[in-house]
Amino acid sequence: MQTAGLFITFEGIDGAGKSTHIAALAEAFRTQGRVVTLTREPGGTPLAEKLRELVLNDPMDPLCEALLMFAARRDHLQQVIEPALSRGEVVLCDRFTDATFAYQGAGRGFDLSVLSQLERWVQSMPAQDGRLRQPDLTVWFDLPPAVAAERLAGARLPDRFESQPLAFFERVAAGYGNRMLQDPARFARVPSDQPKDAVWRAVRGAFEQRGWLQAGSVQ
Ligand code: TYD
Repeated sequence: MQTAGLFITFEGIDGAGKSTHIAALAEAFRTQGRVVTLTREPGGTPLAEKLRELVLNDPMDPLCEALLMFAARRDHLQQVIEPALSRGEVVLCDRFTDATFAYQGAGRGFDLSVLSQLERWVQSMPAQDGRLRQPDLTVWFDLPPAVAAERLAGARLPDRFESQPLAFFERVAAGYGNRMLQDPARFARVPSDQPKDAVWRAVRGAFEQRGWLQAGSVQ
């Protein structure tokens, strides 16, 4: 079993059902003796949580939105993600930069080359010898936007993103697809329009396949 730090991110449109599987993975890793840091974006530090509050609720243009996402990310990387990885922990992060490309880029139509520039600035970390910090694996919960909308309907008061029309989420979903095409080895795409236990088996299987969780204990 691998004991070096592992950086895992989870993506998908709102309503794709990430949360329960992230919690189950944390449990699975802990059962195998790993120390797990559970975190999320935007957020994960006191400063980044304040930025989250702003970006999810206050009206602003797409450039402000993208800058705040990356500002929060920088603090999160420096304060939480990099230290945890250097201690050899498993970092499970609910959303990361793929969400910026999908939501601000594909969803809002913001310039992807500017986002790439910001990605280079923000994710250059000394521990990486000039290479960008990227997830070791990104689990993409891929769900048709119409199904996600049904799941979300009436669930709670929507934020600035959740209240977007179906066409926005169609673009976001396509944005995730494009990100995966650019770096397929980093992604595990999990078709999520199926019962929860089938989704869980697929998620867990992606980790077993890589030798990061022991096989044979799928619940
Ligand atoms: P999430 O934590 O999944 O929402 P919740 O806790 O309400 O289930 O994500 C918050 C929202 O932020 C989600 O709608 C996607 C959006 N988001 C972006 O638009 N860009 C980003 O870079 C990130 C990280 C999130």
